[in-house]
Amino acid sequence: MSAEEFAALCRADPAEELAALPPALQRLRAAARLVRDPTAEDAVLAVLLRLARELSVQRVLEIGTGEGLTSLALALSCPAAQITTIEAEEERYLAARRNFAAFGAEGRIKAVFADAAEVLPALREGYDLLFLDGPKAQYVHWLPQLKRLLRPGGVLAADDVLLYGWVDGSVPCPPKRRSIAQRLREYLSAVRADDALETLVLPLGEGLALSRKRRAV
Ligand SMILES: C[S@@+](CC[C@H](N)C(=O)[O-])C[C@H]1O[C@@H](n2cnc3c(N)ncnc32)[C@H](O)[C@@H]1O
Repeated sequence: MSAEEFAALCRADPAEELAALPPALQRLRAAARLVRDPTAEDAVLAVLLRLARELSVQRVLEIGTGEGLTSLALALSCPAAQITTIEAEEERYLAARRNFAAFGAEGRIKAVFADAAEVLPALREGYDLLFLDGPKAQYVHWLPQLKRLLRPGGVLAADDVLLYGWVDGSVPCPPKRRSIAQRLREYLSAVRADDALETLVLPLGEGLALSRKRRAV
């Protein structure tokens, strides 16, 4: 796939992509936006759904389940997909499990209650899509494991990589957030410099980095 083809694949119309989700899931997503619980923004989810469909994903890994709304959207949109999702907060993990059961998707979504740092080394490689949506400061540290887990031709999607403009300096970063912004800068530098990856950073949500693992030539 050329760089242009990859860029075209990463364009999605949120209204079109999300319209196919069950109304009950759309209501949960709308409710999540009103309270403290973060879930992927519409534009980000639309790109994930398009990529998942176009790549005919069989195996998906999500880091940071939240209440499971993105895992559910992927599972319901891609009937052949098996999803593993990791969450470190027990309350959210339990809420996600309830949501998976309510939509009859518990057989295709494996929810793991753990710190992703402890689980990643034990996972078997060969994921078609990785959605990295956990602790931002860890992205760069987990990159070697994530590359190992991704199959050639698969895509690593990292959310919130521009974080309110703090990462590219377009908005002054509060002193308390300088370290996390620096780790995200390091993540972006690493994926952009990596010859095994082709990376696009889209200004969707708080910034979505999409890195496709090149096939060996
Ligand atoms: C932005 S939310 C995930 C939202 C979810 N991906 C979605 O789109 O609906 C980030 C989640 O990462 C979880 N998290 C934070 N550190 C983690 C870690 N070390 N391992 C696994 N999950 C973690 C948080 O508890 C939180 O629920």
